[in-house]
Amino acid sequence: MSPSRRTLISTAISALALTALATLPAQAQGLPKLKVGLMLPYTGTFAALGNAIENGFRLHVAEQGGKLGGREIEFVKVDDESDPSKATDNVNKLIKRDNVDVLIGSVHSGVAMAMAKVAKDTGTILIVPNAGADAVTGPMCAPNIFRSSFSNWQPGFAMGEVVAKKGHKKVVTITWKYAAGDESVKGFKESFEKGGGTVVKELNLPFPNVEFQALLTEIAAAKPDAVFTFFAGGGAVKFVKDYAAAGLKKTIPLYGSGFLTDGTLNAQGADADGLFTALHYADSLNTPRDNAFRLAYAKTYKLQPDVYAVQGYDAAQMLGIGMAAVKGDISKKAEFTAAVEKAKIDSPRGAFTLSKAHNPVQDFYLRQVGDKENKLVSIASKALADPARGCKM
Ligand code: PHB
Repeated sequence: MSPSRRTLISTAISALALTALATLPAQAQGLPKLKVGLMLPYTGTFAALGNAIENGFRLHVAEQGGKLGGREIEFVKVDDESDPSKATDNVNKLIKRDNVDVLIGSVHSGVAMAMAKVAKDTGTILIVPNAGADAVTGPMCAPNIFRSSFSNWQPGFAMGEVVAKKGHKKVVTITWKYAAGDESVKGFKESFEKGGGTVVKELNLPFPNVEFQALLTEIAAAKPDAVFTFFAGGGAVKFVKDYAAAGLKKTIPLYGSGFLTDGTLNAQGADADGLFTALHYADSLNTPRDNAFRLAYAKTYKLQPDVYAVQGYDAAQMLGIGMAAVKGDISKKAEFTAAVEKAKIDSPRGAFTLSKAHNPVQDFYLRQVGDKENKLVSIASKALADPARGCKM
């Protein structure tokens, strides 16, 4: 065979081999497992929330046969304790020591802001599966930062419209003094005051304190038409019980962003009955998509899912969409981002898309507690988008 013919044949064979290789799933090409850094609270007032997020995330991965974009998943877990002062160290360890490919976290807004800062500086892909810090999809927005949950402004804003329409004029707010509390109240105030109401007093206590007694006495003395609150996890359980025990439930209606009664109803018992809240999920959506999710979750974990489980599940879906688009090569960040940006995410809550700042544009449901469920009453706010104030992207 002439040398030129031999070169031609060997070039053709290499080309064929390359084509075959390109169509093989990444795992078959010997790509290592995708290292997913789960930075969540596994202790403290938000421990149950962290566990539900992880459960939801793992459920989606399991439904995909254990792989996203052709790569098996390896989890590296950190308990962030909902402590912002430890957050920068924790996230740096995940990136530098553990070499994670992607970050998932967290629940607490202060922790998530520290994660977003490091993600922005290093270009690591971050999907926030709960924390609502407005800044994450506001001034800190970035092509590699996504949220599968909500902004703190969203449920507050949705509830403010409801409370104004109910005809309440004077409202006292009560929450923890940190980003999530402050921003929920701000969102509430924006729509409530536009609707003709006035927030007459803003009460708060440091996170994660649960000594509510002095503040409940202040509420009783102020005699407002209604109270709006943001509490979540263990703190929400205690607040709802203390509000009822103080005798306020009978006299001053209590409204909240839906975290007040999500994942908490077994512990709150009858003290939560009848409460109205607004959130991007409810227990009785009764759609085929949600019913299938709820059944799978209950079978796998012997637990009912809540909003946190849904957000974890959707964080995994968003990662899966990006990973499929880059065929397992997460270093292709621009392609990853483009795919997630144009996706319609098939969430149990109802399909949603992302805003330009990468926050879900989604319906907010008015729910009422009954029979240990957050029952769907109506859609409080259709396709509500966070205003993304300060995001330049
Ligand atoms: C937050 O800190 O952003 C936060 C925590 C718990 C929730 C919701 C928001 O349920």
